[in-house]
Amino acid sequence: MVKIIAVTSRKGGTGKTTVAQETANALDGVLADFDWDEGGATRSWGYRWEKRVESPVLQALAHDRVPRPLKGYRKPMLLPSHPDYATELPEGSVVADSVLRWGEHWGKTLGKEWVVIDTHPGSADLTNALLAIAHVVVAPVPLKEKEMAATEAMVKDLADYPLVLVPYMIPAVPPVSMIRRLENMIAGTPVQVGPFVPYAAAVGRRTKRMAMTAEERPARALLPVVEGLRNVAEYVKEYVS
Ligand SMILES: Nc1ncnc2c1ncn2[C@@H]1O[C@H](COP(=O)(O)OP(=O)(O)OP(=O)(O)O)[C@@H](O)[C@H]1O
Ligand SMILES: [Mg+2]
Repeated sequence: MVKIIAVTSRKGGTGKTTVAQETANALDGVLADFDWDEGGATRSWGYRWEKRVESPVLQALAHDRVPRPLKGYRKPMLLPSHPDYATELPEGSVVADSVLRWGEHWGKTLGKEWVVIDTHPGSADLTNALLAIAHVVVAPVPLKEKEMAATEAMVKDLADYPLVLVPYMIPAVPPVSMIRRLENMIAGTPVQVGPFVPYAAAVGRRTKRMAMTAEERPARALLPVVEGLRNVAEYVKEYVS
């Protein structure tokens, strides 16, 4: 059976897309991009929807077919998003049920065991439906004031989901008080804290359309981030099994 990973966050710019693409690559899964805002995984993968007639997902939903994920070199297979999702997608539960069915199909035809979904922070209906089918929900959490407050609210709402918080973009000297706050917020809940992923300015400057975890010799500055992202993928794998 295919396993679904949903990556989510209540705030923008937390590392959601990076975690989704790298986890998908590390687990050799399909990256399903359901965030249609500019700057998402579809763009950085190299897909240009302007050059296509229709969105593969909208087409598949309209004709009850299974969309074929795109094959990439040193990056995960991609189910691209499209700006028309904002207005054209059917209700969330319909999309989520379809993703489950598609995942089963990709399992049989492509040998894929994982589907990693990047979610849209704004669309409650779709995002909630996608979180509801996930075997694990991964939320990158920078240890900063606003992100922590947003995470506290998320932990309250999603405490009965298979939620894993990933402390993200952690500086060389981790803020101890924030780590304590993170531990307090999950105390008494089944929510887990996963491996830390450090901050590296080189990640934001990267222009390569290739997964960091796919690089044979990543730049030195990226190594700790690559290690952290690999640890997240391993953690998720163990968590689900
Ligand atoms: N470990 C890291 N260290 C430093 N910068 C990072 C790291 N991971 C991601 N970034 C950079 O931070 C920015 C935000 O990351 P990303 O796009 O993954 O976040 P997001 O939550 O998907 O954002 P959005 O809300 O816009 O969808 C990007 O410029 C990205 O390259
Ligand atoms: Mg994003």
